[in-house]
Amino acid sequence: MYVISLLAQKGGSGKTTLAECLAVAATQDGKLAAILDMDPQGTARSWKQRRGADDPAVISMTMANLDEELVRARDAGADMVFIDTPARLSDWAMEAARVSDLVIVPSRATVKDLERVEASIKLATVYAIRPVFVVLTQVRPCGDRHVQAEQFITAKRFPVCPAQIGDRVSYQDSDVAGLTPLETEPAGKGADEMRRVYRFTRELLSQLQTKKANHEQAGEKSDRRAG
Ligand SMILES: Nc1ncnc2c1ncn2[C@@H]1O[C@H](COP(=O)(O)OP(=O)(O)O)[C@@H](O)[C@H]1O
Ligand SMILES: [Mg+2]
Repeated sequence: MYVISLLAQKGGSGKTTLAECLAVAATQDGKLAAILDMDPQGTARSWKQRRGADDPAVISMTMANLDEELVRARDAGADMVFIDTPARLSDWAMEAARVSDLVIVPSRATVKDLERVEASIKLATVYAIRPVFVVLTQVRPCGDRHVQAEQFITAKRFPVCPAQIGDRVSYQDSDVAGLTPLETEPAGKGADEMRRVYRFTRELLSQLQTKKANHEQAGEKSDRRAG
C-alpha cells in the first residue's frame, strides 16, 4: 500500500481537489483507493456525502488516530491512500508526511503561494528525507506566470511535476455532485491533466519500490558475506 500526502501551507491551493482527483484516477486504474481526510473542515468528507459512488472511501480522522486508520486501510486491502491535510495545523501535516511514501505540494503560480512552497517542503521532510514534488495548480491559460513559477521552483532544486493543473470551471462544476472532471468530462483537459499527474505519481512510486528492493537485496548480500 502506498501512502501519499497532499500538503501545502496555504489554503485554496488545491490539496483537497488533488486528493479527490488522484483517488478517482487510482480507482479508474483498478486500484483500491481511499482518502484520509485530516482537515477539520471536512471538505473531502462533504464531497463524498454529495457523491453517489462507493469508491473511493473517505475517512475523517485526526492526528491521534492516523496510524490506526492506516492499519485499517491496509487490512481492507487498499492499494493507495491519499491524506488530505489542513493548511494551518502544521503538526498534523508533519505527521501525515511522516507516514507517507511521497508528498505532493500543490501551489498556485502566485507569489504568496510560491513563498510557502519552501516551508511546505521543510515540513514534509522534518522527520525524514522523503520524496516530494510540487505541482502547479489553477494555472491560467494566458500569460507566462506559470513558466516563471516553474523556473522559481526548479531554481530552488525542488522537483516539479511536468503536468500542470489548469484553472477550469469543470473542477468546480463536478464538485457540486461530488464528482471530478475524470468522471464528468473524461475526454476533457481536466481529466487528461489529472491522469498525467497520477501517472507521474505512479512512476515515482514504482521507482521508489525498485530502489527499496535493490537496497534490501544489497543488505541481505552483505549480511550473508558478514555471516
Ligand atoms: N484547477 C482548479 N481550477 C478551478 N478551480 C479549482 C481548481 N482546483 C481547485 N479549485 C477550487 O478552488 C477551491 C479551493 O480548492 P481546494 O482543493 O479545496 O484547496 P485546498 O484544499 O488546498 O484548500 C475550491 O473551491 C475548488 O473547487
Ligand atoms: Mg482542503
